Amino acid sequence: KVGESTNIKWHEGSVSREAREQSMGQKGCVLWFTGLSGSGKSTVAYTLEHALHGMGKKVYVMDGDNIRHGLNSNLGFSAVDREENIRRIGEVAKLFADMGVITLVSFISPYRNDRDLARSRMARDTDFVEVFMKIPIEICETRDPKGLYKAARAGKLKGFTGIDDPYEEPLNAEIVVEAKKEASDELEAPEAMASTILDYLS
Ligand code: PPS
Repeated sequence: KVGESTNIKWHEGSVSREAREQSMGQKGCVLWFTGLSGSGKSTVAYTLEHALHGMGKKVYVMDGDNIRHGLNSNLGFSAVDREENIRRIGEVAKLFADMGVITLVSFISPYRNDRDLARSRMARDTDFVEVFMKIPIEICETRDPKGLYKAARAGKLKGFTGIDDPYEEPLNAEIVVEAKKEASDELEAPEAMASTILDYLS
């Protein structure tokens, strides 16, 4: 019995992951971007996708807003729904990695347990690379590209991450992307952030 399913049996195919990776010419993995709304997860993930694609890599971005239009359109933002959102994406990302694709996952994924569960489901320890977009909430809120912080502060949007719903920072992320610490308080360009991640990958 697995979860709610009974009478099921794992079927092993004759094409191994290694064989798939050999024909793809690369190893699959999951880069898991986590961070507050407005922290730049998607911008950096898509910038990185563009760079990797330009290098001839097979790469794909799974983005929270997009996936919630389809696969996860039945889920809202309660704790239970966020947990299921991340569980499903973790499983889909695992399949993509098994295919040999460099999979960029961009979800707030605010709860540490849910991210750790996704990590623990991977076939190889090296499959899951957590990328923490460590951008202070003040900066995210100033950007407020969708006006959601404003709505949350005004009490028109309940359960917004960082305002009245928790964001649990990663404790051991493989990559931490930070805002520049200089007095100018300027953020690094997404290209510079993406290239930090590229350096890690190479
Ligand atoms: S989660 O927490 O991982 O399940 O969220 P995710 O699937 O990444 O979706 C986040 C985007 O949904 C919008 N949105 C909200 N975010 C947080 N809290 C609440 N209550 C909420 N309602 C809508 C928001 O646009 C998020 O997009 P990003 O790109 O992160 O700003």
